[in-house]
Amino acid sequence: MENKIRVAITGLGSRGYDTYATIIKKFSDDMVITAVADPRKGRIEKFKKEFDIPAENCFSSSEELLSKERLADVLLICTLDKQHYKETMAALNIGYDILLEKPISTSPKECFEIAETANRLGRKIVVCHVLRYTVFYQKIKEIISSGQIGDVASIQAIERVCFWHQAHSFVRGNWRNSNTSSSMILQKCCHDMDIYLWLAGKKCKSVSSFGSLFYFRKENSPEGASERCTNKCSEFGTCVYNPYKFYGDMIKRGDFGWPVNVVTQEFTLEALNKALEEGPYGKCVFNNDNNVVDHQVVNLNLEDGATIGFTMSAFTSRPGRTMLIMGIKGNIEASMEENIIKVEIFGKPAEVIDVKKLTDDFFGHGGGDGRMISSLIKYIRTGEVAPGITTIDRSVESHYVAMAAEKSRTEGGKVVDMKEYIKEISL
Ligand SMILES: NC(=O)c1ccc[n+]([C@@H]2O[C@H](COP(=O)([O-])OP(=O)(O)OC[C@H]3O[C@@H](n4cnc5c(N)ncnc54)[C@H](O)[C@@H]3O)[C@@H](O)[C@H]2O)c1
Repeated sequence: MENKIRVAITGLGSRGYDTYATIIKKFSDDMVITAVADPRKGRIEKFKKEFDIPAENCFSSSEELLSKERLADVLLICTLDKQHYKETMAALNIGYDILLEKPISTSPKECFEIAETANRLGRKIVVCHVLRYTVFYQKIKEIISSGQIGDVASIQAIERVCFWHQAHSFVRGNWRNSNTSSSMILQKCCHDMDIYLWLAGKKCKSVSSFGSLFYFRKENSPEGASERCTNKCSEFGTCVYNPYKFYGDMIKRGDFGWPVNVVTQEFTLEALNKALEEGPYGKCVFNNDNNVVDHQVVNLNLEDGATIGFTMSAFTSRPGRTMLIMGIKGNIEASMEENIIKVEIFGKPAEVIDVKKLTDDFFGHGGGDGRMISSLIKYIRTGEVAPGITTIDRSVESHYVAMAAEKSRTEGGKVVDMKEYIKEISL
């Protein structure tokens, strides 16, 4: 126990419990969970038993946990987006180092303040930009850094959100409305802003963006469709967004993981039906209070004149990230979902790298979740920043770019100059 890093977790949802607590079990020689907070009594009780947490260190809110003296070395902040700022500021002042779920905050000024406070107090914050830690992206970074493809002139990248993921998280779920959570480009694509700037090894000079909520709107509701999904709806048998079918099929095949475990924790069709009749995941995708975009393009103009063109779209059959990275001597074409990296040096035969031959650990964001915890342990123990690890100073950059892109989108595609934007928010 003495040598172990003591960890507290606030927010025992998909990330706090199902992902990180599960991963921490694998690092039990290095980490021990000593305190937790969540208003859901059932979650706390289950967690307390599973991880043997003393009753006095189980709290019903972050606020309660953060009203105590420091109960751990590192606090994992895994609550929802709009809660991060207050919790992070309180935790920094108490003396915690922090693993902070993205987004850092939904406001640029708050991101700035968090970074400034962490640096001033000498605290470590690792933001969960989990993709950086995957073998897939590490390999691409290694190839670019070796100079094989030469200086990167442009990147074309697509995030295929996938139709059912959009419906689950961004039409019915926690992140459907930017007033209560974040804009889509910040919430889902701050990862992409982070990863492609990191791969290019360059800073963003200016940004512009277009996008809209194209499909999941009342106007597109089929004639006779009901407000909640029910078998009385005219589309029940054919709608691809029918949640009874989508989540029901997961339960029928014995798959109790994400995303059905967000809808219900009891894996029977009866419990699922009740959750869909009463909760947000049973709402019609055309009749909700969602306002986040379902497609967006972002153009990044980098400081040396290189460019990044990024597209996110809900309208894909499978999720995944694909990219074409174009250097002056060659290009890299890669698909994260397929774990294939194809390197073509101009005038030479292509080299195909199968990432599945380099690792067999793809649990959680292509293995990034676990590798991030492993890097965090090293960072906390030694202060050593592994190559590619995201410190708070790098992480805020991706957030500023995402927020500037959203500003551009909402102002009709106006070009936002990053230096001016950052100057404005830091005043
Ligand atoms: N890094 C990634 O790739 C990634 C992926 C998914 C989600 N996330 C981020 O992780 C965060 C959590 O997402 P999630 O999917 O786990 O959501 P979730 O809804 O499953 O979990 C949030 C948890 O916070 C708890 N909570 C609410 N109010 C609280 C309070 N006052 N004090 C303590 N706990 C409280 C809820 O009861 C719930 O258990 C979000 O900010 C999201 O953006 C990051």
